[in-house]
Order: sequence, then C-alpha cells, then structure tokens
Amino acid sequence: MRHFLRDDDLTPEEFEAVLDRALELKSDPYAAKPFAGPQTVAMIFDKPTLRTQASFAVAISDLGGNPMLVDGNLAMIGVRESIADTARVLGRMTSAIVWRTGDQARIDEMAQCAGVPVVNALTDQFHPCQGLADLLTVREHKGALAGLTLTMVGDTASNMGHTYLLSGALAGMHVRLSGPDGFQPLPDVFARATEIAAATGGSVTWVSDPRDAVSGADAVATDTWVSMGKEDEAAHRLAKFHPWQLDSRLLSEAAPDAIVLHCLPAYRGKEITAEVIDGPQSVVFDEAGNRLHAQKAILSKLMEWR
Ligand code: NVA
Repeated sequence: MRHFLRDDDLTPEEFEAVLDRALELKSDPYAAKPFAGPQTVAMIFDKPTLRTQASFAVAISDLGGNPMLVDGNLAMIGVRESIADTARVLGRMTSAIVWRTGDQARIDEMAQCAGVPVVNALTDQFHPCQGLADLLTVREHKGALAGLTLTMVGDTASNMGHTYLLSGALAGMHVRLSGPDGFQPLPDVFARATEIAAATGGSVTWVSDPRDAVSGADAVATDTWVSMGKEDEAAHRLAKFHPWQLDSRLLSEAAPDAIVLHCLPAYRGKEITAEVIDGPQSVVFDEAGNRLHAQKAILSKLMEWR
C-alpha cells in the first residue's frame, strides 16, 4: 500500500511520472477512472480550506469517484475516537483518505491503520500536494525543472518550506531558502533534502540575506507569515518577517523572466505586495488551478501502485 504523506514518499522518477500524468490529465481531463463505481474517497479537514477541498472534490469526481466531506470539527479525530479506530472504520468504507490535519504523526498513524491509500492535504510539517502543483506550474512555464533555481523567502520553518526543500531536491532543482533567524526548516528535513539533491544533481541552501537568496532565481515563492495554528504568534512574526517581504525591489534581483509562486491564501502588504502578486510575473492562479491536475495524478498513481 502506497501513501503520499510527504514529498519524499516519491522517488525522483515517480515524482516526474506524477507530473507527466498531471499534464496528460490536464489535456484529457476524464481519461482516467480509477474510482469508477463510483467508489468513495473521504476528505477530512481539521483546519480551514478552500482550494484543497474544491480541488480534491473535483479531482475525485473527474476520476469517476464520489468525494465524501468529513468535517474534522464533528469527527474530532483523536479526541472522540482514536486515529487508529477512525482509520479502521473509514478504510472499510472508502477507497482512499485525504486528510488535512496538524502534526505529521497523526497522518502517519492514519496511514498505518487505514488499509487504503492516505494523502496529506497539509500538515504542520508538509504540504506535498501543493509541492506537486507548484513544480507542475514551473515546468509548464519553464519547460523543465532540473537545474533551475527555486527560492523561497519568508517562513521557511513552515510546511511549505519543508515541501519546497524536498520537492525541489527530487526534481533536481537548486533550492534556496531565506528567512529570519529562528525560522529555519527542521534539520532532519534539510538533511534529507541535501541527500536527495546529491543524487538528482540539485542542491539546497540556506541564505540569510533575502537579496542573495533571490539573486538570479528562476522561480521565487513565498507563503503567509502566520500559518494556520500560529495565529497567537502573529504580532511577533509580523515584526520579524518584514525584510523578507516579496516586493518588486526584491523580485528585481531574480532572473528577468522569473515567475512568482504563492500557495494562497495571500496577505497583500504582508508577505507579498499587491504589485507583485497581481503583476506580470505572478503565476499564482495557474498554480492554484494546477492543484486539481496534480491531485488527480497522485490519486490515480496511488490507485495503480496499491
Ligand atoms: N503555510 C500555510 C499554507 C496554507 C495553504 C499554512 O499552513 O497555513
């Protein structure tokens, strides 16, 4: 049984094959029907969602299945009922489980007990479906991934920081991260990305000065400074992160044809200026749309690999 709990659950070859499948399904949306029946796929959200719920619901329907929304506030997984018991119940009724939750250990436990493929729809540590969508978008705009420089500025200790490290390394990219002291990615994730990059011809680097990090980059990404669950730290974070704001001055350090990524939701005037996110180099809405194609691809591959 295969799951997609973090980016490096895929090998570099599989990562590329998933992006290939995403492009195929983007041009022929109803070509794959792994959930014909229709089989049901559970989508559970313990945290807010818009893009992820919409893109998974459409993806599962397009793949011939029936998306079943489970409200995390009602299910209270791990409080009202253990994760293991929930997994055993849902695994008997569904063909796959998509879960947005907090700590990664929760989704690991779900995967161990479910008996069906489990997909991470964001945890505190990783957002691997977003990683696929982002690199699909870069590939569409740049033609290839290996050898390109992908820079993320801002909260690199976040799920997106970790996902850019691992997914960029899998694709053979040069990943640079830059943020304030105290907001570095987890050392074990950085080490794992370094190991992957050594095999794919990519690299991962931490750069303290945001201008050096962005210099010559092919794609520049940022994300909210206040991830879901971190709202209590908002004031402290907003004060620290300002030098890493992605504004047109910082973007001018990148390659002239660099593209701008943001997983959304975006806070204009905080991590990114309106001029940049709404400007000509921004591809953020293509990126959002690509969630659908990337998730169809990973779901169809997981059903094939069972
Ligand atoms: N880092 C953000 C991503 C939102 C899609 C968060 O966890 O809130």
